[in-house]
Parts: sequence; C-alpha cells; structure tokens
Amino acid sequence: MQTIKKTVAEKILAAVHEVAAEAELTAEEIAAMLEYPPDADMGDLAFPCFRLSKTLRRSPVQIAASLCERVNGGCIEKVEAVGGYLNLTIANSYLGSVVVPEILEKGDRYGAQTFGVGKRVVLDYSSPNVAKPFHIGHLGTTVIGHALRRLHEFAGYSCYGINYLGDWGTQFGKLIVAYRLWGSREMVEKEGIDKLVELYVKINNAIKGDPENGVPANQELADASRAEFRKLEEGDEENLELWRWFVQISLAEYEKTYRQLGIEFDSYKGESFYTDKMPAQIQKLRDLDMLKLDDGASIVDLSDYNMPPCLILKRDGSTLYPTRDIAAAVYRKENYHFDKMIYVTSAQQCLHFAQWFKVVELMGYPWYNELVHVPYGTVSLNGAKLATRTGNVVLLRDLFDLAIEKVKGIMQEKNPDLENSEEIAEAVGVGAIVFYYLTNNRMKDINFVMEEALSFDGNTGPYVQYTYARACSLLSRGGSAVGGETKVTCEEEATLVKLLCRFGERVCAAIADYEPSYITRYILEIASAFNRFYHNCPILSAEDEETRRSRLNLTAAVKVVLGNAFDLICLKKTEKV
Ligand code: ARG
Repeated sequence: MQTIKKTVAEKILAAVHEVAAEAELTAEEIAAMLEYPPDADMGDLAFPCFRLSKTLRRSPVQIAASLCERVNGGCIEKVEAVGGYLNLTIANSYLGSVVVPEILEKGDRYGAQTFGVGKRVVLDYSSPNVAKPFHIGHLGTTVIGHALRRLHEFAGYSCYGINYLGDWGTQFGKLIVAYRLWGSREMVEKEGIDKLVELYVKINNAIKGDPENGVPANQELADASRAEFRKLEEGDEENLELWRWFVQISLAEYEKTYRQLGIEFDSYKGESFYTDKMPAQIQKLRDLDMLKLDDGASIVDLSDYNMPPCLILKRDGSTLYPTRDIAAAVYRKENYHFDKMIYVTSAQQCLHFAQWFKVVELMGYPWYNELVHVPYGTVSLNGAKLATRTGNVVLLRDLFDLAIEKVKGIMQEKNPDLENSEEIAEAVGVGAIVFYYLTNNRMKDINFVMEEALSFDGNTGPYVQYTYARACSLLSRGGSAVGGETKVTCEEEATLVKLLCRFGERVCAAIADYEPSYITRYILEIASAFNRFYHNCPILSAEDEETRRSRLNLTAAVKVVLGNAFDLICLKKTEKV
C-alpha cells in the first residue's frame, strides 16, 4: 500500500494544486493522511479534507467535491465525496499491472524498508540462566527477541544479537556443592543439562527443606554453596574449571533449541563477562555522589522518580543484577555503537529496567534514551505434565519435543508417504508453538493449550504452513506459467492483492510498537484470503490460459509475502506438509 498511497497522494496533490495553486503541501504529507475506511463499501482509501479547510478557505465538504472530479482515472477506479472525505477505490487493472509485478520482482525484499539503513540496533534476548532450567518462561524473550531482530533487519538496521547468559551467580556455588555430593563426571557427560538441572533442583529443595512435613531447612548446604561461589569469584582453578564445563554443557543444549528455531546470536557474552567492568561504574557513581548507604547496602535513591531505590552493592559488597546491567550497557555502547538497544524480558522485570535506565540517565550518559525495554506477559501450560522432573517448570525443549511428536502422529495419518517427514514434523511442531505464542499481543498472559496450537484447521502455525505448502504445490504443478501480465477480475483476487500490498505498513507498525503479533495476525489474514480465493476461483483448471496464468501469478505473490512474513517471526517455510 505504500506504493499505492504514494501514487494516490501524487494524484490528490495535483488536484489540490488545480484548485489552489498556492497550497503548500507535499505528497508525503498527503500519503500520511490517507486512512483505511472502516467499511469495504466505502472504498479502499479515504482522504479527509478537514485539514485543508484552513489553507483552501473552504469547507471540507466543498473541498471533497471539487477534488472528486479531478482525481478520477488511472489507479483510481471510483471516487466519491462523502461528508468531507474523499473515498477512493483502487482499480483492479492497477492491482494486476503494478502491485503483483512489484511483489514478484522484489521477491524476498518485498515489504523491506529503508528507514534503518546506517543505524545499529543491539538486541539482548533469550538469555537463560545456566544450570537453571531453560523453561517456557523464556519462550517469549527468545521468539519476540528474534522476531524483533528480523523486523529491524528488514527495515535496514544493522543488528547485533546478544545472548546475555546468566552464567554467574550463587547458583554456581550450589551446583558445585551438589555435583560433588551427588553427581559424577560420567553422569553429567551422559545426561547433560538434565543432570545439572536435577542437581540444582535437588540442592535447592534440600536447602529450603520442607518445614510443613518436618524436614528442616539445611543451613549448612546454603553456607557451603556461598563459600564455593566465593572461591569461584576469587579465581579458584578447580571451581572455575567446573563452572566452564557447566556453561559449555548448557550452551550445547540451548543451541539445539536455537537451531530448531533458526536462531543465531552474534555474542554469548554473559553476566560473567562484566565482572571486571563493574568497578569503574561503581566508582563513577561514587564520584557523582549518587551512592547512598542504606542499612549497609549501597543504593541510588530514586524517590524523586517514584521508584524504590536501585541496589548497587549488597551489605557484603557483592554486586547485583542492576550493577551488571549498567556496566554491560556502557561496554556495549562503547563497543557496538548502538543507536538503540532493546531488552526483551518478562514484565516482571519492568521495574528493574526502569530503575537502572534512570540511573544511567542520572549518571549523565547521553544515550540513556536509546535503551528500550520490551516486556511480555506470563506463559502457563495446561496440564503441567511436563513439569515434574524439573521442579514444577516446563522446559522449552520438552515442549518442542512434545509438539514434534504430536505432529508426527497427525502427519502419519494425513500424509504417510511424505518425504523428509522428520524434518517437516520438526518445522511444523516448533512452528506451531512459536505461532501460537506470537498470535497474541505480547503483554497478554497466555495459557498454552497444546491441542489448539497443533490444530491444522484453527488459526494456527500448521494451518498457515499448510497454506504456504499449498501455494508451493500449485506453483510446481503450474510449471513455468508464472510471469507476464496479471488480470485481476473477481472480488476474491482484488481482496487478496489489496491485502498483500499492506505488508510494508504492517512491518512498520510492528517495529514501532515492538509487536511481532501484527505480523502473525497479518499472516492469518492472508491465509484466509488466499484459501477463499483458492476455493472459489479455479487456478490450474481456470477457464482460459490468461486467467490461469494470472491466478498462478497471484499465487506466486502470496508465496512471496507469506514467506517473507514467516521469516520475520521464525516460522520455517514448508514447501510440503
Ligand atoms: N537471565 C535473565 C533471566 O532469565 C534475563 C536477562 C535479561 N537481560 C538483561 N540484560 N538483564 O531472567
């Protein structure tokens, strides 16, 4: 629609100048004023004449009437002046001769924007805590984060994705103690991260005890864990070696999940990397006289900003989560030169980010307003069957595995002879979860219902991937017929093309609101319009060669836009399902 809006705006501008040569207005301004009428009967675009009223010294109704007769023709099939609005209907001939060829010609660049060219975005996302479970709470940061990355890349930004691994902290003290008590090298080598999580859960439970059932809390284990972490911080080689090994094992496991999602990171610099970068920032806070003592801890008072204080140092002098984030932000500004840095985490961390963003501002860093926190709601799972082994959380990997298994079952029934069925089941199973998750606005709390996510005929991942495969199959059966002119004749075709050409605008809106769900829902709209077209308009068996070719062109355009949109939300393009 960006191209159409531009063309229409130029026509309107010419008409405005005919009416009032002195009017100062640009085509861009007019394009930005164009609206989508609430009702399809009112046309495809509406131009409100109210703002011109002052310049042209006439009523909006009069302006609409005088512009009406002057903008007809060309890309506009019908124009009506209604109550100060100009309602415009796009000509089918224009859809077929300009829009469809533009989609086919631009291919995987169709919908791409240029406003990010020359700018750099750093994204901090996924960031699981090593040794703690990588659970469905991390699904949001992982897929929203990566979708935002793809969206920004599509707008021309140069992107740098950071997995800020939670690879430092007292949990490693616990893990070291638990490993020495109950674990062994062979066990961990054999069972990998599962063993680490099990050990971690076991020691946590032991430390907490179960006072209600007469099991006391275990202070000794808590103290031993703290002591081992201190040794780690002091550089004890034996502990460091264990720590490195634990991180490496966890990472290998995460990478499987990332591979399934088609996600790669530019950096895995986690929390441990910033240990030696904190003192300089703490010193700066001191020099600026921003640190206050509060019951032995060092804080930055934020009461003037209606926030609780930001904790910088604990009573024992150890650093905290915000301290590390401040040091990391300074390092990243200096090393990656971002124009914008995006953090994707659950909404539970909103206050944390608001606090330390404020501290960075008060420290006088001019880039404080380039920091963006993108929060999301909670995820729960119906029938938390997967949760038992890991102390009541659902591992992301187990969720994926379950989905893949179920898809295999469904595909066995639907299409038992499918080649590469393993690979396809993985793409569809993982895609189902990603798609289901990204259908809702990110702040909404989600309760996962596996059957709903996997259904082949709901508004789901499998349904849209199946639709994509349908387009691919039509094109391969249609042979080399694609190309040449496209005739848009019926309502189903026109609706479909008008929807396809709104892709670029959806991309812009999704970036502006940090909302990948706009793309997901757009995919559903296309799938539904395409399926309506497919059912009502014969494609391969069309009445004549011209119609057949036109409809194949249209199918090819659908494949392009769906494919580009899939890429933006980490959904694999399945040529066959
Ligand atoms: N590891 C943290 C967690 O799992 C998320 C880290 C988010 N990024 C950051 N720079 N604080 O909760």
